[in-house]
Amino acid sequence: MLKGKTVLLRPFRRSDISFFLKWFNDPEVVQYLDMYLPMTEMFEEKFIEELGTTRARSDVLFVIEAKEGASTKSIGNCGLHGIDSKDRNAIFGIIIGEKHYWSKGYGVEAAQLLINYGFQQLNLHRISSGAVAFNERSIKFHKKLGFQEEGRLRQAMFKNGQYHDRVEFGILREEWKGL
Ligand SMILES: CC(C)(COP(=O)(O)OP(=O)(O)OC[C@H]1O[C@@H](n2cnc3c(N)ncnc32)[C@H](O)[C@@H]1OP(=O)(O)O)[C@@H](O)C(=O)NCCC(=O)NCCS
Repeated sequence: MLKGKTVLLRPFRRSDISFFLKWFNDPEVVQYLDMYLPMTEMFEEKFIEELGTTRARSDVLFVIEAKEGASTKSIGNCGLHGIDSKDRNAIFGIIIGEKHYWSKGYGVEAAQLLINYGFQQLNLHRISSGAVAFNERSIKFHKKLGFQEEGRLRQAMFKNGQYHDRVEFGILREEWKGL
């Protein structure tokens, strides 16, 4: 469990599947993600199973819980994927699936906890990320976290009937420590 001022990050549970089905089948959320097919219970069950087996060393995922008085509410998830033990890098991902919680600072705090965990506990050297170019909130979010814009993949993503650029980001361990 990683604890912040307004959020907690905790490991996945099988009972989280109902939240994931809601979030990953919401077109307003999915328009910003790499995934695009309808999310099924069978896929989520298999994914969670793999987190305990074949993906146990390559993917670290947490549910984001917003603190609300004495209780908490599950609002999204975040993770480091494709953790590479030679090059010491990983790919960052995040989704706040509960839309009422967008733009209230939860995403930045959750990401700070996760990135810190990646550099300080997993001993990563570099974390990569990316966003579809029309996701202005995500682009500001990455810059606020200290990610550097490293490139633009032209027309790399097809969304809402047209092609969009993908903005690539990266942050190095020494840049994070310097913040
Ligand atoms: C992207 C996401 C993780 C950001 O988290 P959040 O909690 O909504 O954002 P925060 O409140 O932490 O805001 C981060 C920064 O984004 C900017 N921002 C917030 N709302 C914005 C908006 N509507 N448009 C443009 N920028 C915005 C702000 O500059 C803010 O920095 P500030 O505090 O200095 O003003 C979250 O909105 C989300 O999960 N969205 C849906 C899925 C998604 O886009 N995932 C990311 C895929 S790359």
